[in-house]
Amino acid sequence: MSDVRMRRAQSSDAAVIAAIYNHYIATSTATFDTIGKTVEEREAWLEQHGDAHPVLVAERDGVVVGWGALTPWGVRPGWAHTAEVTVYLAPDATGQGIGAVVLSALVEAARVAGHHALLSQIVAENTASLTMTERVGFERVGYLRSVGRKFDRWIDLVVMELVL
Ligand SMILES: CC(C)(COP(=O)(O)OP(=O)(O)OC[C@H]1O[C@@H](n2cnc3c(N)ncnc32)[C@H](O)[C@@H]1OP(=O)(O)O)[C@@H](O)C(=O)NCCC(=O)NCCS
Repeated sequence: MSDVRMRRAQSSDAAVIAAIYNHYIATSTATFDTIGKTVEEREAWLEQHGDAHPVLVAERDGVVVGWGALTPWGVRPGWAHTAEVTVYLAPDATGQGIGAVVLSALVEAARVAGHHALLSQIVAENTASLTMTERVGFERVGYLRSVGRKFDRWIDLVVMELVL
């Protein structure tokens, strides 16, 4: 995936980050969010992500085709070295191995930031995301039954973990 370049997200990326995420909010169970994000909301979200929890974007031919984020897993101090990973690609950028490039960059950023464990909550039916995380070295550590509800049905979650 040599034509994909990773970089830290800037506030000017808020619109494309929102557009990519809003597509999946509206059309899929990949996220339990149900209401689309505004550009202003994503700008504020980007500002909350400092060096310990960066947001990265993947660029191909100068166009942002995906984003990934490290987010605190828990607010209590004992969770300080555990982060959640999230990856979303533009619909026409899926299925080409770019997700693993984004996730690998997040893993590297987590090492640099001094994190110890990374977790991902993945809807059990999201084969692409489960395959991607396994390829990068994550293991299944949990299964949560019927914890989500979207599109009038109950949804199971798989918890994936990578200890750094
Ligand atoms: C999940 C995601 C980040 C994975 O990244 P990706 O670059 O598409 O993944 P890959 O190209 O490495 O594909 C991984 C595997 O899933 C399969 N796959 C990819 N897209 C798929 C799709 N839409 N439907 C079914 N399988 C798919 C691939 O065939 C591949 O398996 P294979 O190599 O054995 O054939 C990306 O597909 C995406 O952004 N999806 C929508 C948002 C999402 O689900 N985000 C994760 C939330 S937890």
